[in-house]
Amino acid sequence: MTGATGFIGRHLVQRLLSQGDDVIALSRDPQRASAVLGPQVQCVADLAQLPADTAIEAIVNLAGATILAQPWTRARRLLLRESRLGTTRAVVLLCERLQKRPSVLVNASAIGYYGVRSDEPVDEQTGPQPIFQSQLCSDWEALAARAGPATRVTSLRFGVVLGRHGGALPQLVRATRLGLGTILGTGRQGAPWIHLEDALRLITWALEQPALTGAVNAVAPEAVTQAQMMTALAQILQRPIWLRVPAFVLRAALGEMAQLLVDGQRVVPSRALAAGFAFRHPTLAGALEDILSRR
Ligand SMILES: NC(=O)c1ccc[n+]([C@@H]2O[C@H](COP(=O)([O-])OP(=O)(O)OC[C@H]3O[C@@H](n4cnc5c(N)ncnc54)[C@H](OP(=O)(O)O)[C@@H]3O)[C@@H](O)[C@H]2O)c1
Repeated sequence: MTGATGFIGRHLVQRLLSQGDDVIALSRDPQRASAVLGPQVQCVADLAQLPADTAIEAIVNLAGATILAQPWTRARRLLLRESRLGTTRAVVLLCERLQKRPSVLVNASAIGYYGVRSDEPVDEQTGPQPIFQSQLCSDWEALAARAGPATRVTSLRFGVVLGRHGGALPQLVRATRLGLGTILGTGRQGAPWIHLEDALRLITWALEQPALTGAVNAVAPEAVTQAQMMTALAQILQRPIWLRVPAFVLRAALGEMAQLLVDGQRVVPSRALAAGFAFRHPTLAGALEDILSRR
């Protein structure tokens, strides 16, 4: 697994270990990774350290610098691309080098693949756009696909993953508790989301589907807008939502990165539903209740 020390990765490692799997983690800091993930996980700084006869059944490729952190300067764009494409290149090389190829590679991607959309629903048939976030995801997926066909490759296009201890939700909860929950722009932009539990279940499901290749949207069936998401959160936390930040302010402050906040997509999980994946948390209110009621 790459990105094993991250928000999704840490939870996935625990799940795989509890199923009795062995996990090897690629990390820039294997010592820290070992402290985070525990002694059962073999942590390496470079996939070249793994001998060609290492038995690897499956690879989950999650590594990547955080997209919504600093404005997308030239240097930041390079880092966002290289942290994903460089790692994926190393994963493909490993697949080619191993005496017995892994049977499956589940690669992370994002709904940013679809770029900036209005209200029309998009699914896996919809193409990318010539903008940074979209090209990043499409290049990432194309590179991962090079591990095929000898290795089966699936890219999961995640929406915002909602969990208690990581990702975007804790910040939104903190702001809302302080009465600083905010509608961004018109608030009508789509805000595709998925409960962490379903994100983990989709990954393990994708690992086990013998015929599943290509992109799969990892978003919940219930599509909501940014305003609906903030309102649902505010209702659960019993706080008002009264702040609004106009889109032009965010665009002026954040440049193209503001697209992540004020331009959305309405993404439908067509392939997961068609293949019979059953979401445990299909609605936002239910998902938030579940996450926020846990201790
Ligand atoms: N969480 C979401 O809502 C969401 C939504 C859409 C897509 N995704 C994608 O899903 C993947 C996993 O998400 P996550 O939230 O678990 O990510 P995360 O918590 O930010 O962790 C990603 C991991 O990537 C590695 N990493 C960070 N910067 C790196 C760099 N410059 N070079 C190489 N590796 C680097 C780190 O591992 P080490 O420090 O151990 O090297 C880190 O633990 C990411 O690629 C993300 O883009 C996530």
